[in-house]
Amino acid sequence: MKKMLVILLFIPLVVNAIDEIGIAAQGGYPEYLFLEKVTESEAETTAALIAKAIAKGRLVIFAQMGKLTNPNIGNKNFTGDIFLKQWQASIEADLIDISSTQQRIIDKLLWAGKQCVDNNQDRINIKGVKWKHFLPAKWARETGLMFNSRTGIVTKQPSIHYRHPSNVPDEKERKILTEFMQTDAKPKGEFAMMGKQKIYRYFDPIFLMPACLACHGKPKGELDILGFQKDGLETGDIIGLISVSVAVE
Ligand code: HEC
Repeated sequence: MKKMLVILLFIPLVVNAIDEIGIAAQGGYPEYLFLEKVTESEAETTAALIAKAIAKGRLVIFAQMGKLTNPNIGNKNFTGDIFLKQWQASIEADLIDISSTQQRIIDKLLWAGKQCVDNNQDRINIKGVKWKHFLPAKWARETGLMFNSRTGIVTKQPSIHYRHPSNVPDEKERKILTEFMQTDAKPKGEFAMMGKQKIYRYFDPIFLMPACLACHGKPKGELDILGFQKDGLETGDIIGLISVSVAVE
């Protein structure tokens, strides 16, 4: 009896001692309250619309990088409102003929993107610092979080050698990245399940432009301006995906 008690007391301690720390919890999903849902027939166009709008928002931020990284300017005069006007102009043509559900979803995305630029004003307007860690990928990440708060739609930018931990590709995204690297990468999507919810997953490739190579280019392993190892890629190569998961009614 005494021996049994000793064993029973010991088991949990031993199990705890060998548990690895910092390993992702198994199961679970990035969303389980899906506030916005689209019909099956609108699923692909909605996901594509969101991905395209994020890609264009990234380009609007990208176009400002010269000014934003200038250490001599304090106030950059790049507010949420100014960003929003430029972003809206760049996606205007994509919004013709969209449904009222899609318009409501896009309005929430526009709100989130503007909010992100407003949230980062202190950072953007700091004087005397060149790289302030405000760049297209960060804008899209923070915008995606706020967009998720209001819609339940999950957006991500998974990458082969990701820099931000929230961009770890899941199994499907890893497969798509591999496939896109080997073939002619074209946006694609499919119906899937997130827990008990039917969703449409959409994957839009992000290609590198010459100005991206300062950090994502060659030589592989050399440290970039921010201290990350360069990816060793070239102009036109895939660096990641805009991954969108929309709940389907
Ligand atoms: C100054 C260095 C720098 C340049 C230039 C740069 N990036 Fe990045 N990139 C980063 C950093 C840092 C992150 C992580 C940002 C975050 O989420 O906070 C990142 C993240 C990303 C991600 C998301 C995956 C990840 O690594 O977390 C993609 C996709 C990406 N960049 C593509 C591009 C493209 C396309 C360009 C050119 C238009 C570009 N980057 C230019 C530094 C850079």
